[in-house]
Amino acid sequence: MKIRRCAVLYLEPREDLDVDWAALFAGTSALSSSTRWLALAPHLDREVDVDAADLALLAAVSQSLWSERTDVEQQHAPAVVARLLQQGLLLADNTEGAAPDPALAALRERDETLRAQHWRPLAALAHTYSRWRDVRSDTGAEAPSFEELLERHGKPPAPVQQVTAIGAAVALPAARSGFLDEALLRRYTGRNYDTAASLPLAVAARLLQRTFGAQELRHIGPHANVLKKTSPSGGGLHPVEAFVLVQRVDGIAPGLYHYHPLDNTLLPLRATTQDEAAALALLMVADQHWLADAALQVVMVGRVERTFWKYRNHQKAYRALSLDAGHLSQTFYLLAAEAGLPAFITAAINDIDIEQMLGLDHLRHAVIAVCGCGVAASGVREMVELRYGETGLGDGAGPQ
Ligand SMILES: Cc1cc2nc3c(=O)[nH]c(=O)nc-3n(C[C@H](O)[C@H](O)[C@H](O)COP(=O)(O)O)c2cc1C
Repeated sequence: MKIRRCAVLYLEPREDLDVDWAALFAGTSALSSSTRWLALAPHLDREVDVDAADLALLAAVSQSLWSERTDVEQQHAPAVVARLLQQGLLLADNTEGAAPDPALAALRERDETLRAQHWRPLAALAHTYSRWRDVRSDTGAEAPSFEELLERHGKPPAPVQQVTAIGAAVALPAARSGFLDEALLRRYTGRNYDTAASLPLAVAARLLQRTFGAQELRHIGPHANVLKKTSPSGGGLHPVEAFVLVQRVDGIAPGLYHYHPLDNTLLPLRATTQDEAAALALLMVADQHWLADAALQVVMVGRVERTFWKYRNHQKAYRALSLDAGHLSQTFYLLAAEAGLPAFITAAINDIDIEQMLGLDHLRHAVIAVCGCGVAASGVREMVELRYGETGLGDGAGPQ
């Protein structure tokens, strides 16, 4: 059997602090610290405790070239080789010789998938280990009020930094009115949705088509079809696509859909009842009920295989992918404002649960953020909103 190291591997010295009871009773330092080494490997999607023997072996085996297992076992304990193979930090090439072990073959396949996408290693690491699973209000999601934050962290840094200038400030004329003003100055993040109201089909259709739809298809060469959308996109690749959770849209059954940007269609992926759709929305946005109440949620998913096809192993590619989602969200907000509706975006999402809902592989499809839109509730607002022309933060005491 031949073996090699996994494609991407980072090691973290993790410090754990504990109460040192002996020291405490002796009247000295009350805290003790211990450090363990954790292997972080995006294809595994979990942290693995490693020791000095593991580290020595991992440093000695190539991540590119295959070595004979028996040769490696001359220098390192066979038990360590076996353990690292089981954990997936070493991978086995079972193409020749003995019958492949399915568990080892599955680990190798995950590593091959990672290699095939051309992720920048640090970006793969940041993406993999910043995803949430089942973060709920009782398991870590927190929404401290502004007062609580002040108490915990003291005064925030000023809203604008003081820059040292080399001369007097240049006064600019007041901004003139323009045709974008109406939408720009009506845009706000809605956190008080009417759970009885549904979105008119025409509004939902315009929101999706003008944000995520292709306005033109340009043929620029063999195998080169470029989508033209209302938002800019790094490299013109438009890798961010929309998966839609319909809760209440006139004429569309509740459920999960994929929006096709050329056909302007919603491809059904899972039919739900309205209650099931509401529960999925709540799970998606980590129990932020003020966002889950919106009639429609859109999961923005970056097809990394498309971005990294051009930007292979590129330092800026993952950043560009996130920026694309930000542009799309602002366009979505403005279209909602044009229709007289609030919208939202959040990155505080249960990415792993969303991947499972939609059948996505995080190494190939990066769930980036969720946005949504709905009809605003009338009456007293429970949650904070920043609408133009109002003073303070609205009625509610709130999160964010
Ligand atoms: C990347 C990003 C993440 C956000 N996440 C949340 C969130 O998790 N929950 C929430 O209620 N609002 C969220 N918001 C909305 C902001 O809180 C909101 O934009 C900000 O308070 C300013 O209000 P405005 O959008 O009405 O101008 C997010 C906004 C952005 C751009």
